[in-house]
Amino acid sequence: MSLSILVASSDEHFRETVRDSMANVPNARLIAEYTEVASNLYIRVLQDLERHPDAGLIFDLASDAENGFKILEKIKQAVPDLYVIASNYHAEGETVIAALRAGANDFLTQPLRRLEFKDAIARFERAPKREHGSTQSRLGKVWTFLGVKGGVGATTLAVNFTSVLAQRKHSAVLLDLDWTASDCASQLGIQPQYTLIEVGENLERMDQALFEGYVSRDPVGFFMVGPPESLETQGYFSEPMFRDFSNFLVEKYEHIVIDAGRSIQNEVIFGALQVSSSIMLVMTQDFPAIRNAQRYLSYLMRLGFSQDQIRIVVNQYQKKTAPHIASLDQIQQTLNQPVFFGVPPSPAIPAAINRARPFVVDRQAAGELDATFRRFVDKATGRQKDSAKSA
Ligand SMILES: Nc1ncnc2c1ncn2[C@@H]1O[C@H](COP(=O)(O)OP(=O)(O)OP(=O)(O)O)[C@@H](O)[C@H]1O
Ligand SMILES: [Mg+2]
Repeated sequence: MSLSILVASSDEHFRETVRDSMANVPNARLIAEYTEVASNLYIRVLQDLERHPDAGLIFDLASDAENGFKILEKIKQAVPDLYVIASNYHAEGETVIAALRAGANDFLTQPLRRLEFKDAIARFERAPKREHGSTQSRLGKVWTFLGVKGGVGATTLAVNFTSVLAQRKHSAVLLDLDWTASDCASQLGIQPQYTLIEVGENLERMDQALFEGYVSRDPVGFFMVGPPESLETQGYFSEPMFRDFSNFLVEKYEHIVIDAGRSIQNEVIFGALQVSSSIMLVMTQDFPAIRNAQRYLSYLMRLGFSQDQIRIVVNQYQKKTAPHIASLDQIQQTLNQPVFFGVPPSPAIPAAINRARPFVVDRQAAGELDATFRRFVDKATGRQKDSAKSA
């Protein structure tokens, strides 16, 4: 059986040594590298554990001595039975005891030595395994819709995805992070009184009552918050603000759906991608979209995202191809990744946008599109067939 390892360190050299040492442990696989050891790291760890429940974490305390213990404690609070190998330069009694108190199961002194590393992995292998599913449903899931270029349908899919979840009585928040387009509100016919600016200003006293009192509630039942009208305010909602806000959201809501627009090199969007359970990479079948999808994918891979975190969604999907329309096979081959879902073209979508209501609200008008879209939500959320019959 192969062992899955996660490593958290802002020190590139440390991560590199772990990578090298792993090469000598044939049954161990590095699943994720966290290059930022930040207060919301536990969200990413939890999300990776859903895919790899048996994984253990190598945690570098030396890369952020001040906060390292606190961050490790938070991770262990979220996942008490996670196996953690802490590491630091000093192995004096106090350092090791502090690491154990913060929840570490084992300790490695830096610089890492291959033999000691191998022994530590062997101890991890012998340790009791976590109970599968013990982390499930503790934190909300974050779904980020990222378009590979303008107009591919990221907003439409995010809005309707949230609507279906809310129709199914899940608590959900739609977060519009596309500062320039800011289309979620207009697709929902909402004129928000409060925006991300007020959220940012009130983060310190944020609680559920304040949040729900502030932001818009769609008649379907979910909450929505996004940017204000004025474009120049973008810088006021910063990445650290997003981090605190997302910590709040995943603690309180089952699903957080994000319209990320298409700008990938924006620090708030990057923060959103980091805490995402799934990144829905939205594209179409034309060649500019495929080329950009390829660029986005390789960029995300270079940044340490894993392939199973990213789902390719082809919008306006047509089976019949023409010279300017690539087939699913061509797309999969070019991207070297399976297409997760194809959403067909339908006149019900522009009609719904004109009415300023999600198309899933008027199921009759949306017809076949409605059923197909619900299959997409089922597949993404892992909903069972028998419970999916009614909605
Ligand atoms: N499956 C579909 N069938 C028909 N029309 C669609 C479909 N999906 C999206 N559209 C149309 O494409 C247009 C763009 O959709 P949308 O605003 O959701 O894209 P976007 O990726 O969010 O764009 P932007 O780059 O402006 O943020 C809309 O006018 C919508 O009507
Ligand atoms: Mg949009």
